[in-house]
Amino acid sequence: MLVPKLYTLDDIDVGNKKVLVRVDFNVPIDVNGNILDDFRIRAHSQTLLSLLNRGAAVVVLSHQGRPGDSDFVTLENHAKKLEEVLGVEVRFVNDVMGPAACEAIQSLRHGEILLLDNVRLVSEELIEGEPERLAKTYLVRRLAPHFNYFVFDAFATAHRAQPSIVGFPAVLPSVIGYVMKRELEALDRLLSKGSLKVFVLGGAKVKDMIKVVELLAKKGIECKVITAGLVGLVFHVAKGGKVSNSISKLLEERGLAPLIAEAKKVLSLGIPIETPYDAKVLKADGSIAEEPLSSATGIPLDIGSYTASVFSEIIRSASVVVMKGTAGRVEDPRFRSGTIALLEAALKSSAYVVIGGGHISSMLSEVGVVREKGIHISTAGGALLMALAGEELPALKALELSYKRFFKVVPS
Ligand code: 3PG
Repeated sequence: MLVPKLYTLDDIDVGNKKVLVRVDFNVPIDVNGNILDDFRIRAHSQTLLSLLNRGAAVVVLSHQGRPGDSDFVTLENHAKKLEEVLGVEVRFVNDVMGPAACEAIQSLRHGEILLLDNVRLVSEELIEGEPERLAKTYLVRRLAPHFNYFVFDAFATAHRAQPSIVGFPAVLPSVIGYVMKRELEALDRLLSKGSLKVFVLGGAKVKDMIKVVELLAKKGIECKVITAGLVGLVFHVAKGGKVSNSISKLLEERGLAPLIAEAKKVLSLGIPIETPYDAKVLKADGSIAEEPLSSATGIPLDIGSYTASVFSEIIRSASVVVMKGTAGRVEDPRFRSGTIALLEAALKSSAYVVIGGGHISSMLSEVGVVREKGIHISTAGGALLMALAGEELPALKALELSYKRFFKVVPS
């Protein structure tokens, strides 16, 4: 993938203008709906403050979680957090495109900021398609007429071709914000590093990670892939590894069983994939033990110490380490040690380290090694990996379309 040159918010005059900003405030949330880590919210502050200080009326749009998941919540707490981070009053309306939202947008004055509610409350937002088609959704048709500009700053969602990402650029002059600018610069540097990359893929977004591995294999990217978390469990089974009935049940319950066949197809492409050897498990009597994964009787909630040492050795041999997602259920302190061990191996190595995704980056402070140089802490997980695997990001394509349509000249 080539990183295109893009117009930024410094290239437009936003004074006395109404600006819609797509950010990614999708953050880790606990069972009570509290925000566990505000990294992504803080990341967008420079973009939002710059627009406010230059006299724009700023309306912010984001998603949080996916419908059906426990972290699919309203953005009311995000508004409070944003107010704290920006140090200015942040209005919030629990509506996305209905009368309350439209009225709040209309009454917003220059120098003021409003956060709309979770854009995925609108079911249309989950449609994926081409910019022209998604520009016809109600979401875009209702909101776009209120604005002079669209600022896209949500790099972490740039791999989704959804209305709030690709629909607005088709109908509004669009530029990127500072998060996008920083992330694209880092991506450009990373893509130009030809040396051996080690991808450490963990977490629960198994389908996305299988897609990433497939792209890496098909595009012939020189790399090694380490899998952990639920991703590791699915690849373990796909490789023919045995698991107990309780683990099979877990895979069923989490809707992951159908992905085993997809993982098998990807394995047949010949890319080397490491899977966990042992696991830290929670047993039926509530105790915790380390067991070989193939004979584990408890539920595996972290990698075991043998796996951590094998994976750490591979990480040490890399020139670039890209880590996405955690190795275990890190919300529970008893299952954080595997992720911490892998982060420590990466930070101690001489590799350039890229950390992607909210959960894992929030754990850096627990690692006993501090690194200031040779590290990029990305706001993104899936988007970064897709781009590194050579996939075109729909958001970038939509922005280029917007330039041709509204600015007439594509930046050089
Ligand atoms: C992410 O966390 O990777 C982004 O916010 C995208 O979220 P999604 O995978 O639910 O589209």
